[in-house]
Amino acid sequence: MNRVNQKGLRISIIVFIAFSVWSSSFGTCRAREGRQWRQSKAGPVRKPKGYGGSYHLGRSMLNSGASSTFNVLDYGAKGDGHADDTKAFEAAWAAACKVEASTIVVPSGSVFLVSPVSFSGPSCEPNIVFQLDGKIIAPTSSKSWGSGLLQWLEFTKLQGITIKGKGIIDGQGSIWWEDSGKMPSTKPTALRFYGSKDVTVNGITIQNSPQTHLKFDSCTSVQVYGVHVSSPGDTRNTDGIHLQNSQDVVIYSTNLACGDDCVSIQTGCSNVYIHNVNCGPGHGISIGGLGKANTKACVSNVTVRDVTMTNTLTGVRIKTWQGGSGSVQGIKFSNIQVSEVETPIMIDQFYCDESKCPNKTSAVAVSGVDYVNIRGTFTVKPVHFACSDTMPCTDVSLATIELEAAHEQSHLSADPLCWEAYGDLKTTTVPPLIDCLQTAKPSTTGHSINLDSC
Ligand SMILES: *[C@@H]1O[C@H](CO)[C@@H](O)[C@H](O)[C@H]1NC(C)=O
Ligand SMILES: *[C@@H]1O[C@H](CO)[C@@H](O)[C@H](O)[C@H]1NC(C)=O
Repeated sequence: MNRVNQKGLRISIIVFIAFSVWSSSFGTCRAREGRQWRQSKAGPVRKPKGYGGSYHLGRSMLNSGASSTFNVLDYGAKGDGHADDTKAFEAAWAAACKVEASTIVVPSGSVFLVSPVSFSGPSCEPNIVFQLDGKIIAPTSSKSWGSGLLQWLEFTKLQGITIKGKGIIDGQGSIWWEDSGKMPSTKPTALRFYGSKDVTVNGITIQNSPQTHLKFDSCTSVQVYGVHVSSPGDTRNTDGIHLQNSQDVVIYSTNLACGDDCVSIQTGCSNVYIHNVNCGPGHGISIGGLGKANTKACVSNVTVRDVTMTNTLTGVRIKTWQGGSGSVQGIKFSNIQVSEVETPIMIDQFYCDESKCPNKTSAVAVSGVDYVNIRGTFTVKPVHFACSDTMPCTDVSLATIELEAAHEQSHLSADPLCWEAYGDLKTTTVPPLIDCLQTAKPSTTGHSINLDSC
């Protein structure tokens, strides 16, 4: 007892009295039960981990030592789906921000209407957890959005931020998708992380975003798992997950159904690992478009494996604009199962979202792209390699490709397109891709210079 400080002693007494009332109601031996309770590590009632911590018998019962829980209901949130709960979320955040490894609780059974808000952290303590078990919905009245915002829910400049739980983030996108003029022309991303390190998103569902569902910009060490993204396949620009300027990103055990790329990997990304993901509907998993408006783009070390694609526009795709610079290198696509995918394998260095874009001499170089074990059915074309005349694709390899037309009659252009693509065919394939990759080195000299610029 001499090692227990005064506060701890006080807490021990309170806990003991509380326990005594509880245990006496069962008519058991207090002393023996008490000793058991004290020794028990896990159980329905947990012993506070450190005697120096706060101990309330209310919502924060599990608080201990340095951690602390902040429930938005305690900060005035109504959770009725109609009252504006933004201020309550901001207040809970302000409190949690001051405590290392704190937890904000958004409880289940309630629907919280939250206006655009930034949970900003340059001066927050690290490792905040946002426990999302309830539902958060976006406002559908234009006055909440001013003249247009790039995102709805934002977490910025944090060291260690986790969003987890069984909850739902619903962007209520249908009013935006209609393009009826009721909402600003800039459509927001539902959930964005910016400038943060050690970011985890786990378990939640993000649905019906006006635009991209989940975006990471300038983040390092990102983990996304057990996440569901869901919006209709005919909604424009509703990317599932969008990565930009981010490194060391892992995405797995995740289902992505949306109207644009399931995962979009943009410039500045490296060490990206995507596995055990289901995609569809959607546009597939895409690197790019890179190099728009003559910009420099660098993407390297991306692995996509054990992915299923169902009813998507493309499967695995690299797309670059004419006129860019920089490079895409070290890309591996393996164990991709496609079903009714328009074009399962695509490199397009003539990417253009207008009717026509002029050809230029420079391009984002594409090199070191491996395709291994890509199987299933396509509806338009199995392979589409359209590489730049001045900057051909190099070190492309293909192994165990088995792609068959999904429907007997859909042989419209079932031949592969292979243009200025260099590399190795490692196995026989279906369809035969024997003349697809050129084996001689491309004659251009610009290529190596371009690779070095990243
Ligand atoms: C490539 O990325 C993976 C993570 O996906 C990482 O483990 C590996 O070290 C990276 N390789 C290089 C050369 O950086
Ligand atoms: C650009 O170059 C490609 C490949 O040589 C060619 O097929 C295409 O027609 C050109 N596009 C334009 C707009 O000139």
